[in-house]
Amino acid sequence: MLLHVPKVLTDAQVARCRELMGRAPWVDGRVTAGHQSARAKDNRQIVEGSPEARELGDAIVGALERNPLFVSAALPLRVFPPLFNRYEPGMAFGSHVDNAVRQVTGTPFRLRTDLSITLFLSQPDEYDGGELVVEDTYGAHAVKLPAGDLILYPATSLHHVNPVTRGTRLAAFCWIQSMVRDDGRRALLFDLDMAIGQVNQALPEHHAVIALTNCYHNLLRQWADA
Ligand code: NI
Repeated sequence: MLLHVPKVLTDAQVARCRELMGRAPWVDGRVTAGHQSARAKDNRQIVEGSPEARELGDAIVGALERNPLFVSAALPLRVFPPLFNRYEPGMAFGSHVDNAVRQVTGTPFRLRTDLSITLFLSQPDEYDGGELVVEDTYGAHAVKLPAGDLILYPATSLHHVNPVTRGTRLAAFCWIQSMVRDDGRRALLFDLDMAIGQVNQALPEHHAVIALTNCYHNLLRQWADA
């Protein structure tokens, strides 16, 4: 499932992120790439664990935890501290797969990458190119969103970032280990949760709302690692 989650950050939060990114220390993005992806990767990244990266990361993880659409779709168990990248004209990231298991450098913290997010921090009119392209069984999907919006997609997908041909593309990205490992089960729970919300709006007093909510939680109880 590919899901666009709008307005994860407010305009003020985007502005604060941009200010921090303006003074953060940047390095070659290959520092966090695996063997295959290092050959394909050409961008810049904020130094992991720098004060700017920590403040940015905390703001984004907090916003994710408060976003009901994200939580319903991802059912997050663990969130990798977000990383931040910058593409200037000529930079790109060729087709690659993300590592299945990631450890935060210098810590015992480790997670299985079930889901990936890219949170856009530049407005679409600030740069040309730079689309995130995610390949799934329905083909390739090119994604370019307003600043503050994110795309959630299965970390199992091959993906790439088209070359930037004008301006600067700033984004945050991270991985999520979900309480529900299987994409199909997670998608079913998401559909059920969204449908319960609609029934609850239309028929708030109806007994079916409680019965369906009970089904949702009993499925989650069967499938979740918590
Ligand atoms: Ni990737």
